[in-house]
Amino acid sequence: MPDQPRIPGRRFLQSPGPSPVPDEVLAAMARQPVDMGDPRLDQTIAACEAGLRALLHSADAGIYLYATNGHGAWEVVVENLLPPGAAVLIPGTGHFSESWAVQTEALGRRVVRTPWQPGWPIDNAAITQALRDDPRHEIVAVFAVHTDTASGITSDLGAIRAAIDAAGHPALLVVDAVASLGCTRLEMDALPANVVLGASQKGLMTPPGLAWAAVDARAAAVAERNPAPRFYWDWRLRNSPLSYRKFCGTPPQTLLAGMAAAFELIALEGEDAVHARHRRLARAVQAAVQAWSEAGPLGFFAREPASRSVSVTAITVPEGFDVDAMRAVARERFGVALAGGLGPLQGKAFRIGHLGDSNAATILGCLGAVEAALRVQGIAVGGEGLRRAVDSLVADEDG
Ligand SMILES: Cc1ncc(COP(=O)(O)O)c(C=O)c1O
Repeated sequence: MPDQPRIPGRRFLQSPGPSPVPDEVLAAMARQPVDMGDPRLDQTIAACEAGLRALLHSADAGIYLYATNGHGAWEVVVENLLPPGAAVLIPGTGHFSESWAVQTEALGRRVVRTPWQPGWPIDNAAITQALRDDPRHEIVAVFAVHTDTASGITSDLGAIRAAIDAAGHPALLVVDAVASLGCTRLEMDALPANVVLGASQKGLMTPPGLAWAAVDARAAAVAERNPAPRFYWDWRLRNSPLSYRKFCGTPPQTLLAGMAAAFELIALEGEDAVHARHRRLARAVQAAVQAWSEAGPLGFFAREPASRSVSVTAITVPEGFDVDAMRAVARERFGVALAGGLGPLQGKAFRIGHLGDSNAATILGCLGAVEAALRVQGIAVGGEGLRRAVDSLVADEDG
């Protein structure tokens, strides 16, 4: 990748993934690999497994780490849980539920979808109905995206669990926590969720390239009976104390060292404090977006305030506005990288990530840069968003 021209001071990466990587994580990765028999490698892997279990509030989920990204983790659950031709229910959340559905179908499985209602979280009544419409229990699992990073909406996992239970259907609950773990509380055992999957580059503050699945005993038993041919992704082959086997080959040591350091930072700050910080920063961004929407043509994509995620906010723009030009101005002139709209929101929205290694300074800098870039591109929001964000941070009782 060519170097970006140097801007004095720090560039802010306010995209919802990859997210900024803390200096401590970078430092942990700046070291030579070790030999495969070095106990430090086992300790690093064990620290990642323990860090995931702690954040997931799971006593004994099997943790499988992969040298892959979120799409790889999606493939992991498809190949391990679903026999060829089997069915899965994927409730509509927008771009990411649809992408997961398309990938699942490409792998030769059947997908039942519940409709996506743009701007709204998962329709739980539609889950119950779809499962009631499956009296022969052909649907093996419900694949639910917790926070859809494209829409900025978080769905209520407890309500999804209740919707499955209300149908009296044995489908497993598989949760995509790519954009939620490390940002908001997720209690795998208490829900219960049978599988939770995620990736390194968002709330876990580690560069892209590492993904994982946490698997409970019920899901492991389903995988055990699944005749689908598989190898690299196969949980059964990875059940080994040997790191070479756990990774089906050489472990991605550098990323593991980074992720272990990220878990240390989360433990140091405290899980509750990490989540409270995410809520506080999200409220500040939402206060700014509220001001922008009152002043004119920008708006929240997420209609229901309670569903707006603590990780990312999707902001709609007027018809004809060149979002990518505004993002380029924000990045190249004001030093802040934002994300564009995805899927159906391409060209119609931009997104501010407020997850992972962010603080009040990066959020205020980001909002100021957005206001400046909007003004350069012809939308004058008058500084009111930034002022409301300051008010929100000052007034915030969360600490
Ligand atoms: C919720 C969610 N799931 C899955 C993915 C896919 O992850 P990756 O881009 O690492 O393949 C993303 C990516 O942003 C995501 O936000």
